[in-house]
Formats: sequence, C-alpha cells, structure tokens
Amino acid sequence: MVLAPEPSVTGRDGPAREDRAVSTGQRPLAQVRRRAALHALVREWQAAGQSVSFVPTLGNLHAGHHRLVESARSLARRTVVSVFVNPTQFGPGEDFACYPRTLERDLQELEQLGVDAVYTPGIEDLYPFETVAAVRVTVPRLSELLCGVSRPGHFDGVAGVVLRLLVAAHPDVALFGEKDYQQCILIGRLVADLGLPVRIQRVPTVREADGLALSSRNQYLTAAERQRAPELYRTLMALSRALQSGRRDFPVLEAEAGQRLVDAGFSPEYVVIRTEESLEPPDPQAGPGNWRLLAAARLGGTRLIDNLPAHAAGLE
Ligand code: PAJ
Repeated sequence: MVLAPEPSVTGRDGPAREDRAVSTGQRPLAQVRRRAALHALVREWQAAGQSVSFVPTLGNLHAGHHRLVESARSLARRTVVSVFVNPTQFGPGEDFACYPRTLERDLQELEQLGVDAVYTPGIEDLYPFETVAAVRVTVPRLSELLCGVSRPGHFDGVAGVVLRLLVAAHPDVALFGEKDYQQCILIGRLVADLGLPVRIQRVPTVREADGLALSSRNQYLTAAERQRAPELYRTLMALSRALQSGRRDFPVLEAEAGQRLVDAGFSPEYVVIRTEESLEPPDPQAGPGNWRLLAAARLGGTRLIDNLPAHAAGLE
C-alpha cells in the first residue's frame, strides 16, 4: 500500500491525513474522503495540463457503472469516481437504510479499471450544515414530472448532491447513464442554467443479455420476478416498433403498453412517449427523431425504470 501524494494546496480543513491509496497495482487508487483534498488533487492535475473526468455513483458498482468509468477514462487523462449513498434523494419509506453498501469491493473494481481517485465522503463533508439546513437546488418542472410524481423531492436531492459533487471535483467532463434518463436531462439543465464549466456526457444503457437494464436494485427481485423483468424492455421495444411502423395514436399506444405490463404482472407508474430534451408530450405531427420512450413500473416490491429512443433498433 502506498500513500497517495498529498495535495500541496489545502482547503479549509487542510489536507485529509487519512486519505490513502487502496493498493499498489499498476496505478494506485487514491481514496479521498474530504472535498478540500479532492479539490486540491484535481487542481494539481489540471495545473499540470491533465484533463479530469468524473463519474458520480451510489456505489454497489455493476457493469453499467463500469461502462461509465471506461468512457470516462477514454475522455480524460485522469478519472475520479465518487461513492456516496446520498440520503437527500431517498424519500421516506425508500431503501436508503438497506441500499447495498459494498465499498471494499467497489474500491478493488475501481482500481482494476484504472481510476485515479475515488471520493468517499462522509455525510458531514458533503453537507457540513446537515441536510436539514443544506442549500436546496430545484430544477422546476423537470423534477416534478414522470419519476418526480411518485418520488417527490427525489430530483431536488439529486440536483443538490450533483451540484455539490461537481463543485468539489470541478472536472472537465462528468458522465451520467441514460438508464436514468430523466436524471441526465435534469443535470444537463442544471449545468446549462448555472453555466457550470463542465461538459456532461451521456452513456447508453448497459443491459443483461435478455434486455433488462442493469441496476443495483435488480438484486431485490425474486427469481420468478427476474424472469419477468425484461418485459419492461420488451414493452418499450414494441412501442418503438409501433412508432416506426407509423402509428401516431399516442394515448392508445401508451395505454396498450401499460396493459401489456399489467398482463405481465407489473404495476406500471407510467409508460409514455416524450420529447427527448424537455420530457414534455411531443407533437404527433413531428418526426420521431427526438422522441424518447420512458417507463417506470413496480414488480413485486421493486421499482424498475427503463427508456429507449423512439428509433430503437434492439439491444443497445
Ligand atoms: P447510481 O444509481 O449509482 O448510478 C451512477 C451512474 O451510473 C448514473 O449516471 C446512472 O445513470 C449510471 N447507471 C446505472 N445503471 C446503468 C446502466 N445499466 N447503464 C448505464 N449507466 C448506468 O444515479 C445515481 O447513482 C445517483 O443519483 C447519483 C447521480 C450518483 C447522485 O447521487
């Protein structure tokens, strides 16, 4: 084990003495627990002319996260990943307490992937005034529709923590998965509206061979539910094919897709056709080039989401 070089520039709390490199490997992975230390480390890299990419996560990494990290590495000289289970984006009764936390395994995987630093803050580092008194960030409308209906406050929590993370890491590029499509759009708007100096890069959804989008929450599914779960993807594919065949009766198409999910044992929250940037209902007269198909449904106790471009060609 080698200690990560301590950043020469220190923030209010000084350099994080407990910060460490996880193991030697070809390139040691620095673990940074304080945002002042992260800020200083990234500033050193950028001062040396090295670009920095950033992938925020809740941890419990899977191949979807890995794809983001691989893309991040291809886009910049240095890559930072954050692992933080952000309490402010979980509603009452949601799975914050039992969200899978697998930090040691995550760190090993991130080192294998060639990540340079992982930021693993404690709650007091990202929210020094505690979450009740924390500055709030709201993206109107985009935070209220689709998933915002059944998860009130969720996207305020996401916007707030992503802003904090982007300020801490000030990367050149930050990557987000299209699996969480509404989150991608919301963060794009946050960055555009505030004029944050970071490029947002979207990464297509990584799926199992049967089409199920990878998600940490898939492990909540029983074996029987896991068998049925790809029906969400297949329903969106069927909707895409219907649009590609020229159908424009949106309310009927959406209702048919919802019924298909009910027949497969899901409780759908929504299955909709929306414009890809505003997430508002599209004009049926316009072409499907900028439409997105989005769905959320419960299968037993698990809430699944998925989405596809209207011109989907099959497994992404
Ligand atoms: P988390 O669910 O851990 O996801 C981290 C990133 O991985 C997100 O950008 C998400 O869209 C992406 N991702 C997850 N599953 C994917 C898949 N199957 N294919 C492609 N990308 C996938 O999303 C969050 O964390 C949090 O809301 C966060 C942005 C970290 C803020 O707390």
